[in-house]
Amino acid sequence: MDKKILILKGDGIGPEIMDQAIRILKNIGDTFGHSFHLTDGLIGGAAIDNANTPLPEATIQLAKDSDAVLLGAVGGPKWDHNPSDLRPERGLLGIRKSLDLYANLRPVKGFKTLTNASPLKPEIIEGSDLLIVRELTGGLYFGRPSERRENGEVVVDTLHYTKSEMIRIIKKAFESAQLRKKKLTSVDKANVLESSKLWREIVEAESKNYPDVTVEHVLVDACAMKLITSPKSFDTIVTENMFGDILSDEASVLTGSLGMLPSASLAESGVGLYEPAHGSAPDIAGQNIANPIAMILSTAMMLRHSFGLDTEAAAIEAAVETTVNQGFHTKDLHVENGTLVSTSEMTDHILKNLQTNE
Ligand code: NAD
Ligand code: IPM
Ligand code: MN
Repeated sequence: MDKKILILKGDGIGPEIMDQAIRILKNIGDTFGHSFHLTDGLIGGAAIDNANTPLPEATIQLAKDSDAVLLGAVGGPKWDHNPSDLRPERGLLGIRKSLDLYANLRPVKGFKTLTNASPLKPEIIEGSDLLIVRELTGGLYFGRPSERRENGEVVVDTLHYTKSEMIRIIKKAFESAQLRKKKLTSVDKANVLESSKLWREIVEAESKNYPDVTVEHVLVDACAMKLITSPKSFDTIVTENMFGDILSDEASVLTGSLGMLPSASLAESGVGLYEPAHGSAPDIAGQNIANPIAMILSTAMMLRHSFGLDTEAAAIEAAVETTVNQGFHTKDLHVENGTLVSTSEMTDHILKNLQTNE
């Protein structure tokens, strides 16, 4: 298979973890006889520094000309006081919107060895396995008007959704639930927000088209509590953009670290983008201590969702699991009697296990 992949390393730990994903990808290409053609592009702070914009037009074009996009992370203190249109995060929102990446899939599945790495009780988290389906191109993130500060005294952020934007993500979530345990939890704030009322109506209406899926509605505040008190009660969760952002970082606690959570951002048709759920972690950047697993598992998601390479994706996932079960862990994870390794050493071990599992 011949595939073109756009590599957007971004900022902070982005380049470090992306280098690990590329090592894994090269290994998979060699082993399974695929040619992955990698092209580098600019986004975020790196793009601001080089091209004075967080999302150069060339990057969007390169993305559209590729079969998939891999992204590290963007942002950092260097750009935190920039005007809004010159913030790294704008680049990320911009590429999501340009490629119409409305569906963000964030699987949350803990590894047995890491049960004690979580501050939650083992009996609560053991066996938890859920998928957050987060709407990614609407809501508060893309509020209008874009001028949101009036006379410096009044600020406005609008939560805007069209019915069709809601329908497509809700359908995607039902389809995702059908491939899993067929339970869908729709998360909203229908006791307060008009957008949530419409959201709930659509979920109810669509549920008739998916009779095999059991549906429940949970308010977002209660969901935040239930995620860490009874995570096993969830299978597939669907929610709007900002609720999904917050709940997914919270859910990462089930796995032991935010550094474990991959994601896929998909369009109705066209190129998909794959990135960890975490950010650029400026506090640990440049030290070769970041956890590369979220990035590596995002790469596996790319192979599966964009290229249909299920065997190759499963090989990566199995090698990661073996490595974690062997006790190797980066600094963000606390594993009793485990072996603390660096970012690149973690990848060395995953590569070794890829070879052994062949
Ligand atoms: P963050 O996710 O970068 O970090 C939160 C905490 O988790 C930090 O202590 C960090 O060290 C740790 N962490 C995150 N990923 C890790 C990994 N792979 N290995 C080990 N530890 C890891 O969130 P933040 O600190 O709130 O934000 C930092 C910057 O990242 C901000 O500029 C923010 O806007 C940006 N951000 C970008 C993305 C993205 O590019 N998709 C996502 C979230 C945040
Ligand atoms: C994420 C990040 C982004 C988001 C930021 C950096 C814009 O937190 O991908 O989860 O909120 O979507
Ligand atoms: Mn986030």
